[in-house]
Amino acid sequence: MNAFTAIRLQGISYAFGSHTVLDDIDLTIDAGSVVALLGPSGCGKSTLLRLLAGLTQPAKGEIHFGERLVAKPDWSLPPEARDIGMVFQDYALWPHMTVAQNVAFPLKMRNVPRAERDARVAKALARVGLEAFADRKPSGLSGGQQQRVALARAIVGEPRVLLFDEPLSNLDSELRESLCTEMARLLRQLGTTAVYVTHDRREAEILADRIVHLSAGSIAAVRAVTPSSGEFA
Ligand SMILES: Nc1ncnc2c1ncn2[C@@H]1O[C@H](COP(=O)(O)OP(=O)(O)OP(=O)(O)O)[C@@H](O)[C@H]1O
Ligand SMILES: [Mg+2]
Repeated sequence: MNAFTAIRLQGISYAFGSHTVLDDIDLTIDAGSVVALLGPSGCGKSTLLRLLAGLTQPAKGEIHFGERLVAKPDWSLPPEARDIGMVFQDYALWPHMTVAQNVAFPLKMRNVPRAERDARVAKALARVGLEAFADRKPSGLSGGQQQRVALARAIVGEPRVLLFDEPLSNLDSELRESLCTEMARLLRQLGTTAVYVTHDRREAEILADRIVHLSAGSIAAVRAVTPSSGEFA
């Protein structure tokens, strides 16, 4: 477990052909903090998250997790070697697996022994309130429950970095608010460094310690969130 890992982006640029998507991004994310990346559609949020995940490589600049270099222009540590957990907008669960099998998957990939795996899956499911759903298939769950499964799968390996790409966007607004508050509490408990992409300012305020405003591929502003602003009105 590496609960406290800082993330450092230095001079990160990225382009699709001649279209510059990220332009010279410098950002340090403190170990154990939650940063929200906020900005309008197309500003480069998902691209930045994909760079952090190792799903794509920067054209310029470097990314460090703690002391470890994870990306530079001609080289990138693959996602499976980065010790990350990810949650996407569309849940990305395996439909043929039960809830428990979905959550166990990252541990299975790492050859964690069966007994330990079962214990950790049970703990992760308890953290997201899904103990009673271990044997269901995702198709038998609501959208909110499916996203909880994805969340349990992301945290089960106790990764050093958690990455979220608009995980609540597919849910209705009431559910979004309650799950957002729960996720904020969970992230505080875990103490894992997290980057949370959203275009919803209120979500960002509830979840994050700092909000990074992206605009057309550049950082327009960085602002600290005070505890009192982290509540839904
Ligand atoms: N595969 C691709 N090929 C070409 N351009 C792309 C590709 N993927 C993304 N882009 C462009 O890169 C820019 C940034 O995309 P990105 O997905 O990072 O935006 P975003 O901030 O996540 O937007 P959204 O809020 O809609 O998810 C956009 O202008 C987009 O059109
Ligand atoms: Mg996006």
